[in-house]
Amino acid sequence: MQLQVKLLEKNALLKGSQKIEGVGLGLRFPHFDDILNNKTGSPWFEVITEDFLEEGPHHKKLLQLREVAPIVFHSIGLNVGGVQEFDKDYLSAFKKLYNKFQPQYISDHLCWSAHNGTYHHDLLPVPYTHEGLSNAVSRVNYIQDYFSRPLVLENITSYLDYKNSDFTEIEFLKELSKKTGCKLLLDITNVIINHKNNNEPTKKYFDDFPVENVVYCHVSGVKATEGSTLIIDAHNSAYGFNEDVLIKKYFKNMPILIERDANIPTLAELEEERLRLKEGIGGL
Ligand SMILES: [Fe+2]
Repeated sequence: MQLQVKLLEKNALLKGSQKIEGVGLGLRFPHFDDILNNKTGSPWFEVITEDFLEEGPHHKKLLQLREVAPIVFHSIGLNVGGVQEFDKDYLSAFKKLYNKFQPQYISDHLCWSAHNGTYHHDLLPVPYTHEGLSNAVSRVNYIQDYFSRPLVLENITSYLDYKNSDFTEIEFLKELSKKTGCKLLLDITNVIINHKNNNEPTKKYFDDFPVENVVYCHVSGVKATEGSTLIIDAHNSAYGFNEDVLIKKYFKNMPILIERDANIPTLAELEEERLRLKEGIGGL
């Protein structure tokens, strides 16, 4: 058994080392077997790091998948914008995973998600101040040194604004990339949600976004919450804000990932959504 896994590992590094491109899917456990049985044409997959920190049979399945498809790791636990010390056990488990599966990218969010030892499971915005920037720069540098590779950071949805800011979100991301060499993951739906909630058009944001630093994009869907006009980034539905039109205009040929975390449909339904998006952007 161990020998078989070792061989799989070796092959994974050889065969699955191609780069991500086209419209991919987030790997979710209910779909794992169907994915391994070729029930989707998804050319790549985004894997939630925290789903694999513990060893188990799912590791063997991921090695099988890695043998035939490129992957990226996407995490929620790095707490890049926070101030508490990094969790060394988490980082060490993460690095072990990284070495085993060799994803093309490791990504997390520009946010803080823990303080004083408590993880609150929400992705909260960092203050776009000089102090916030210098904190984020040193923490991104730390992580990049730890993994010896660039970190990829995603823009989040935000339901509050700080009173004092020295930068806009885009200025902050540009400065952070410039000072650390980190890359960006642009969540197109998050941008739309933030602007819709503030009754603002998205054109300026997309016109100004540093597309040269983006390595892939996210698209997801939201079903409106009953009795509320606030749009919540729920990942509970198929995409529905004409993201394909924006991709065609601003992010042609960029790898795109469909995220789904709630109200999870069958893989066949997700595949339909993936093909609809692929056709909409006229891409790979
Ligand atoms: Fe996202």
